[in-house]
Amino acid sequence: MVKMGVIGAGRMAMVHIRGIVRGISNIKIKSVADPYMPDATKAELKALGIENTFKDHRSILDDPDIQAVLIASSTDTLAQFSVESLRAGKHTFCEKPVGRTIQSIMPVVQAVDSYPDLKYQVGFNRRFDHNFHALYDAVKEGKLGKLHFLRICSRDSVTPPQSYVRISGGIFLDMMIHDIDLIRFFAQSDVEEVYAIGNVLIDQYFEDEGDVDTAIVTLKFRNGAMGVIDNSRKAVYGYDQRAEIHGSLGCAELNNDMKNSVNVLTAAGIHNEGPVWDTLDRYIAAYKSEMISFIHAIENDLTTQVTIYDSLQAVVTGLACKKSLHERRPVKLSEILEGI
Ligand SMILES: NC(=O)c1ccc[n+]([C@@H]2O[C@H](COP(=O)([O-])OP(=O)(O)OC[C@H]3O[C@@H](n4cnc5c(N)ncnc54)[C@H](O)[C@@H]3O)[C@@H](O)[C@H]2O)c1
Repeated sequence: MVKMGVIGAGRMAMVHIRGIVRGISNIKIKSVADPYMPDATKAELKALGIENTFKDHRSILDDPDIQAVLIASSTDTLAQFSVESLRAGKHTFCEKPVGRTIQSIMPVVQAVDSYPDLKYQVGFNRRFDHNFHALYDAVKEGKLGKLHFLRICSRDSVTPPQSYVRISGGIFLDMMIHDIDLIRFFAQSDVEEVYAIGNVLIDQYFEDEGDVDTAIVTLKFRNGAMGVIDNSRKAVYGYDQRAEIHGSLGCAELNNDMKNSVNVLTAAGIHNEGPVWDTLDRYIAAYKSEMISFIHAIENDLTTQVTIYDSLQAVVTGLACKKSLHERRPVKLSEILEGI
């Protein structure tokens, strides 16, 4: 049994907490800290059997009874809390992206290196989706041969509110970062160069916030493979999450998780109810699986499946996409790392 403390009690933290309490028997959540925790959240935590709530995250880090910390507070706090948590001797699971700049992530890289006995995992949950993992297995088992190209399509069903877009860090670091991590995972290689194009085609407020709502990125990997990611902030038919990997021995494709598998065939055509609606519908099991994997790494002294290096690479790639969009040219990742 691993005793855990949670920093943050917002949307993502509660997804994790509910999943752990209801479905992971070898984690016991002892306390949750969030300075802005609403009474309704406190009531829900109490109903889930979690009595200890604090404003200050130090109350968790100073508790010798807690072995592992889950950090799901706002993005600007993730890196600092990661460093503090490791220094306090806690195994640490941190939500993505850990930081939006290389400068903010590097102290975490150093802390992870300084405490080799502590496990550190980043919340790139899509690697743990059963379908994406099966696609990865096809690559890993060599069924596709040498990889030639990889394609990920990732489109949200509902646009985020303008207030969220303002603080999101932009489409590449907020949304595409998941796809960047996934495509690196599939390619089993770091990205060497990207070229991004993007536009505002859905709603003017993306432009008002200096962002785009539609983007395509091509990627060159160090191992020679090539990739394409397309992102849209709005797909009217549901949450569109597809992928395809093509190699010397064949191709593997992954279609959407559907609301159900019924096709109605009539003279008007073939109809089904379409893909599931959002990230919670699609990835709820993956959030639980990533946590099981983290605890498994702690209990069996294994390397975690998503490391701080993975997070750093995803952020550097996201920053290269941003630069490419603004400068309208291909950008090598080495340019982003220059002078750091
Ligand atoms: N893996 C995923 O699919 C996924 C999905 C959504 C969000 N996220 C990530 O999870 C993190 C949280 O996102 P969210 O959607 O839950 O946001 P949110 O705004 O709902 O929650 C953030 C919480 O952090 C709390 N907080 C702020 N300062 C704090 C502090 N000093 N100590 C403790 N708590 C503090 C806020 O009060 C809030 O309750 C973000 O980094 C985001 O990138 C990941």
